Amino acid sequence: EGSPLSDPNKEPAALRNLLGRTNRDWWPNQLSLEILQQNGLSGNPMGDDFDYAAAFNSLDYAAVKADLTALMNDSQPWWPADYGHYGPFFIRMAWHSAGTYRTGDGRGGSSSGSQRFAPLNSWPDNGNLDKARRLLWPIKAKYGQKLSWADLFIMAGNVAIESMGGPVFGFGGGRQDVFEPMKDIYWGTEQEWLGDTRIEEESGRALENPLAAIQMGLIYVNPEGPGGCPNPLGSARDMRETFARMGMNDEETVALTAGGHTFGKAHGAGDAKLVGVEPEGADIATQGLGWVSTHESGMGDHTITSGIEGAWTPTPITWDMTYWEMLLDHEYELVKSPAGAHQWQPVGNPEETLAPAAHTAGKRVPTMMTTADMALKKDPKYLEISKRFRDNPDLFADAFARAWFKLTHRDMGPKVRYLGPEVPSEDLIWQDPIPAADYPQIDASDVPALKQAITASGLGIAELVTTAWASASTYRQSDHRGGANGGRIRLAPQKDWEVNNPSQLARVLQVYEGIKAEFDGRGAKKVSIADLIVLGGSVGIEAAAKAAGRAIEVPFAPGRTDASAEQTDAASFDVLEPQADGFRNYLSVKFSVPTEELLVDRAQLLGLSPPEMAVLVGGLRVLGANHPKAEKHGVFTDRMGQLTNDFFVNLLDMQTAWKQLSDESDEEYLGTLRETGEQKWTASRTDLVFGANSQLRALAEVYASADAGDKFVRDFVTAWTKVMNADRFDLASGHVRD
Ligand code: HEM
Repeated sequence: EGSPLSDPNKEPAALRNLLGRTNRDWWPNQLSLEILQQNGLSGNPMGDDFDYAAAFNSLDYAAVKADLTALMNDSQPWWPADYGHYGPFFIRMAWHSAGTYRTGDGRGGSSSGSQRFAPLNSWPDNGNLDKARRLLWPIKAKYGQKLSWADLFIMAGNVAIESMGGPVFGFGGGRQDVFEPMKDIYWGTEQEWLGDTRIEEESGRALENPLAAIQMGLIYVNPEGPGGCPNPLGSARDMRETFARMGMNDEETVALTAGGHTFGKAHGAGDAKLVGVEPEGADIATQGLGWVSTHESGMGDHTITSGIEGAWTPTPITWDMTYWEMLLDHEYELVKSPAGAHQWQPVGNPEETLAPAAHTAGKRVPTMMTTADMALKKDPKYLEISKRFRDNPDLFADAFARAWFKLTHRDMGPKVRYLGPEVPSEDLIWQDPIPAADYPQIDASDVPALKQAITASGLGIAELVTTAWASASTYRQSDHRGGANGGRIRLAPQKDWEVNNPSQLARVLQVYEGIKAEFDGRGAKKVSIADLIVLGGSVGIEAAAKAAGRAIEVPFAPGRTDASAEQTDAASFDVLEPQADGFRNYLSVKFSVPTEELLVDRAQLLGLSPPEMAVLVGGLRVLGANHPKAEKHGVFTDRMGQLTNDFFVNLLDMQTAWKQLSDESDEEYLGTLRETGEQKWTASRTDLVFGANSQLRALAEVYASADAGDKFVRDFVTAWTKVMNADRFDLASGHVRD
């Protein structure tokens, strides 16, 4: 498996920036509001204190569902519903909202309502979904801030399925809207829509990490086949890879694709050249809508979206088994749509394969399959699953419902974050379940004795701090996975990750197990290893502060529990393995992204601000938290183990001059005293960027100043505590569910 940020070992010439091609590159003339948001002014009209969970919980949920059900059949003249039912259209919208999620970095997905913004609102694959969103506006307007767009997209998909008789597993709300594009998501470097330099044909069609779509601007694969070639087996290969990047196995992939295409139709009524520009580049008068088509009426039976034309089944607004009957009981031949796209058609178009025309009463038209659908029949593994589903309607329905639930909730994190009356009670392994305590948990009164036991255990400051960091810093705010709760650092695969220094970790964990056994043996109360690890971090930091002459207490919130191996999908945790962690000065291999950008990336996933990132790096260096591979890089102090601002003071000291340690690598640097030439320090790029980058230098200056001592320690502890508690959704009042 590759690393989440792709292409290790590329020549420096191939270095790319972290974000690849951005909105500004695609739409240089786009109005920018960024100057209004300088210096932290927020573009979110709801403000920082807005409690979406509370707002959602006050929603009349049944009324929303009733309104959505009514809307499904309320065809609007400006964008008439195929077959008089918007359901299939809304399912595609919801699927495309969720389908941008990728496990590699947890980014993308439906949890922010990003489909409203560029680039997603203008991706070729999202063609005409601008109309689907606009059709929902009356409902959004009616429920206002109690119902985010992000939740509405998925709810509309669910209600669509239900209203056509399909199976639904549940719904959890809680997706809070953003009000500007997500800026942290790398979508690729290609400069053209549908470009695919992300694929390396030489290395067996390897797809660049963490991307999960085969071409720029697609959700997954090209429906016509790889590179537009109608090759079902090639399509199967691309589907397997891209769906796996979203954590979907073969069975889920087949269930989703077949279940989805049980509904609706593809649109390719005429020449695609007659379709106008995408929303982000469109004329101001079209009011955010794009793809205005001059092919006849441009809508209804004349709609052009993908260019493929036709329904999959004779009953496009009914959940039934006809998708399988079409695909498996008929021979298909390659044809071209009116828009010139490759598609497959039942040989001879027998009567039972014809579908109603979407807008012309009484007319019957051929059904079709895309090359991707044909993959479900041509790939031997997919075929086996397809046959099983065809023979077991209940199995198919259950597999579809569960896979749809996973698809649409995968990026929401643990179940404790789900809201509303339709949250399924069943725990699902992909939710990374954390068990509730079935014993009395520790509270503040137990903390002093436990701290005492940790102090007396002989563990050193660096061991205490790195173990706590290793445990908590797996958290990523992109999909809310990872974190200290669950104590999964005890389990495979985390206990064996190189970044976690496994031999040291095993030793530390053994000590904690001993402290736990001793504590648990004393009465009914038990302490979790997860809590002990975090408490150990506090003990280490408090000792280091004390050694530097500062008495502080690191806030500690008990309540974590330990998950078991059975509650852990070990393989799904592989993607959380840090290939780079600048906070521990760790780099597995050189990336195609400059190493200092990987620190920024990790800080973003941890939800840290620039000052928080800076103070943590500076503090962790002097505490000795470096990974062994990083030796003493960045440890700019002669009193390691004391919580001082020495990292910043010495980095900014003009007596030191820096140069590369060797000509071959620009990862390691040597600092010598200008006057004597004495070798003083070594450093990584990650260390030196705090002196080289003007913004980071400005932060380093604050923490290096004579008056920074208390502030440095205070800010370090605040940022540290933020990381330790990043996954404590049970503490945030708004998210508590009973
Ligand atoms: C429509 C491709 C997976 C649900 C379409 C269209 C294409 C397509 C080309 C026609 C768009 C248009 O011209 O209007 C694919 C490919 C997939 C895939 C290549 C994966 C390999 C899925 C999944 C779902 C889904 C996973 C949902 C579970 C739908 C629905 C429509 C649709 C409901 C009909 C939309 C309408 O009637 O307006 N898909 N799809 N598709 N897709 Fe998929």
